[in-house]
Amino acid sequence: MAEKEIIETSEAEIAVHWQEEGYYHVPLDFIAQANMTDESIYQRFSLENFPNCFKEYADMLDWYEYWTEILDTSDAPCFKWFKGGKINASYNCIDRHLAKNRNKTAIHFVPELEEEKVEHVTYQELWVRVNEMAALLQDFCGLKAGDRVTLHLPMVTELPVTMLACARLGVIHSQVFGGFSGKAAADRILDSGSDFLITMDGYYRGGQLLDHKEKADVACEAAAAAGHKVKKVLIWERYPGKYSAATPLVEGRDFIVNDLLKKYYGQRVEPVRMPAEAPLFLMYTSGTTGKPKGCQHSTGGYLAYVTGTSKYIQDIHPEDVYWCMADIGWITGHSYIVYGPLALCASSVIYEGIPNYPDPGRPWRIAQNLGVNIFHTAPTAIRALRKIGPDEPAKYNYHFKHMTTVGEPIEPEVWKWYYNVVGKGKAAIVDTWWQTENGGFLCSTLPAIKPMKPGSAGPGVPGIHPIIYDDEGKEVPKGAGKAGNICIQNPWPGMFQTIWGDRDRFVRQYFERYCKNPKSKDWRDWPYLTGDAAVQAPDGYYRILGRIDDVINVSGHRLGTKELESAALVVPEVAEAAVVPVADEIKGKVPDLYVALKPGYHPSPELEKRISQALATEIGPIAKPRKVWIVPDMPKTRSGKIMRRVLGSISNKTDVGDVMTLANPEVVEAITKMVQG
Ligand code: PRX
Repeated sequence: MAEKEIIETSEAEIAVHWQEEGYYHVPLDFIAQANMTDESIYQRFSLENFPNCFKEYADMLDWYEYWTEILDTSDAPCFKWFKGGKINASYNCIDRHLAKNRNKTAIHFVPELEEEKVEHVTYQELWVRVNEMAALLQDFCGLKAGDRVTLHLPMVTELPVTMLACARLGVIHSQVFGGFSGKAAADRILDSGSDFLITMDGYYRGGQLLDHKEKADVACEAAAAAGHKVKKVLIWERYPGKYSAATPLVEGRDFIVNDLLKKYYGQRVEPVRMPAEAPLFLMYTSGTTGKPKGCQHSTGGYLAYVTGTSKYIQDIHPEDVYWCMADIGWITGHSYIVYGPLALCASSVIYEGIPNYPDPGRPWRIAQNLGVNIFHTAPTAIRALRKIGPDEPAKYNYHFKHMTTVGEPIEPEVWKWYYNVVGKGKAAIVDTWWQTENGGFLCSTLPAIKPMKPGSAGPGVPGIHPIIYDDEGKEVPKGAGKAGNICIQNPWPGMFQTIWGDRDRFVRQYFERYCKNPKSKDWRDWPYLTGDAAVQAPDGYYRILGRIDDVINVSGHRLGTKELESAALVVPEVAEAAVVPVADEIKGKVPDLYVALKPGYHPSPELEKRISQALATEIGPIAKPRKVWIVPDMPKTRSGKIMRRVLGSISNKTDVGDVMTLANPEVVEAITKMVQG
């Protein structure tokens, strides 16, 4: 994940050279069935109608007690939504669907091994499992509303079961991405003050059954060394009845959930009626430096926001089979695999493994076999699938009505492949821009109302009012051709409430810069700083250029690294591109361009020249890289993001730091040799 601690832009204005693409129109079949086709929604959610517009989202939920005040700003910028309301997230995602949809599939669990059977969990079955787990958490662990529990689970049904069992009790869950280390889990256990860790013995990744339990031992040791004893470790078995890890259980501390559960079979737990503003979960955002930040998300506001956006932006209907390929360990998975889709009674797919196991046709086979009609993934996965299996989608008979891209700017070339090849030219695409802190989407087109524009996220979604400020706090108007710091003018229900245990950091990092009056109780004085640079086209669409610290200043011209990378991807041989700034005596900074090629292509000086020329042609001679490095593979995080920081260190001959947590640390050495000789 991108490091978001450093927020500095020394120059007010960033010139943008990236050309605007033309519109693509959403297929009529999509529009005919869409949840939201009424353009007046933008009027309903305009700033004049703020904050009352968000009643529309709150009314998609079932409340025990209806709220009395829609937005309480008395503790600004810690805003409280739907004050006075009582609600339970587990009830809204499960119980309320039983009367009509008891036997409908809530979760399709797809194991990584193709020879293992797909599990179809009905809403009734989910209800049973969640109740039993809630009974266990309450009785065996003594957990109650407000307590925190750390989860370190892989992509299995047991993860949403555990989350929803916590939610049923008002216990605050904090899921740590399964691919993270035991040490990372320990940091989060400490920060949240969790007495319990819930994990799994093992899971499949690239065809291997990994020992995941060993990470729990590391986590408990590291937490103990820092003075915090984890009372119990609860371990789900990947194969119930058979412990699959090589690491032994620690007597008195470790317990097998599947054994414990037998005592609770048939037990039911009344959902706890939680205040709307009670925290539902923590989601830590990781950085390369500094303490992880626990983004604290609320129950009522968060659930209302993800439900509303799942309905209007994701276009989820109860009859849809929806597959978001993200990991539930990230915010995307919380909002748009678990809470949003289940609140709408959809069938949500959970896939255990990596997209290209055992071959790059796998995602499309899953889509075909389950009848997936809504697909949601990140540019990094799209680029990878485009690189290793460009012709695979055509071999399978699936039909997507809707596709999402999220997490990074998507290069127009990659967008077009997604649209034409994955979507077969028949799906609406939404490019959704948002962050862990936000709970749900900030910018995106409404798919049946606005046309698509490759590389642009679109306007603010209903009720989100972005504004671009320059460094002096002056608004950069749309169509100015200049980029600046994109902020959101108003709070919204999905926005995090604070950083767990660190209100000062919350205020400092997200609001201080453009706050008009730190004593103000008026939301208008508290624009939210996203930390991204963006440019707004004359049509109001926002193009996100990346983190403020991802901008390169070449001879006084600021170039978004993404613009350069996008230009490199126009060259047909190029699969992935990453640009890093290199210090230059004359020009200040110059870009170094790293590229990986599609299979079957080989590096050559001629190709290097062509790639370099492409940047000059697409953007201007100013964009020509110092050097094009054709590398065997990009250094990547476990979540698949390219580690530009590592490449930057190699180019600048500075210390690359600890690279052992990367998915492929071995490429770092190979690239260093290539670049530094
Ligand atoms: O820079 C933006 C980029 O990802 C950052 C947020 O990362 P994270 O908190 O990990 O959340 C990712 C999933 C919501 C943002 O500050 N980002 C996210 N979505 C997009 C994006 N950049 C461009 N286009 C997007 N659609």
